[in-house]
Amino acid sequence: VRRLTVPAIQKRKGGEPIVMLTAYTARMAQLLDKHCDLLLVGDSLGQVIYGLDTTVKVTLEMMIAHGAAVVRGSYRSVVVIDLPFGSYEASPEQAFATAARVMKETGAAAVKLEGGEAMAPTVGFLAARGIPVMAHVGLTPQAVNSLGGYGARGRSEAEAAKILADARAVAAAGAFALVVEGVVESLGRAITEAVSCPTIGIGASVACDGQVLVVDDMLGMFERVPRFVARFDNLAERIDAAAARYADEVRTRRFPTEKQLYS
Ligand code: KIV
Ligand code: NA
Repeated sequence: VRRLTVPAIQKRKGGEPIVMLTAYTARMAQLLDKHCDLLLVGDSLGQVIYGLDTTVKVTLEMMIAHGAAVVRGSYRSVVVIDLPFGSYEASPEQAFATAARVMKETGAAAVKLEGGEAMAPTVGFLAARGIPVMAHVGLTPQAVNSLGGYGARGRSEAEAAKILADARAVAAAGAFALVVEGVVESLGRAITEAVSCPTIGIGASVACDGQVLVVDDMLGMFERVPRFVARFDNLAERIDAAAARYADEVRTRRFPTEKQLYS
């Protein structure tokens, strides 16, 4: 099976919805690969894997290590790697150097960065130089210190107009797709109608050209999740039960049994 390509994803605008999940490890990538079109190595790994409070502290080294693992574990999905906070915002040149390093050291075919009008020149700079860019507008978690929290965006007319302008700007600059996160539904829909690249929603709209979730959220690994998460399993409870059973069997010498031992 050949890996899907960025142009194949681009052609899905208005067509069959695009399926994206995050992945941070090779084994999870293997399990998700056949169900997804895109695997995102999100900087959400800061919270999900490393226990950080925000994505601001995520390093390029973390993204490259997990990105390479996800590329090794998958053979079909397009792998997209988040550029972490501080690694791309200063200039198009800084972004190009970072993105090129990410692609060389992981084998991924695309990167994602957060931002709208301010980042449009950077999106264009990379796109013109062989680096497919997925943009990310609306609730942009790397800007949590400016936004003041993770509340939905676009509730006022002025804010909605600004986010729509952001989306138009990065799409016009050549983003191959656009994550729209945490916006009022009407805005998610309006952005999808306004731009010619596919939109991938997370807390946006069912009208988006695709959807993405953080895999640990949809698997039920966390007690508290944002409104936009649907839990498709309850892994936290199942892991708790398995660990409890293991602990009990160790303490009562019911594990290991003959079956696990060498004679
Ligand atoms: O880091 C991440 O997981 C993301 C998605 C939620 C879009 O950026
Ligand atoms: Na992210």
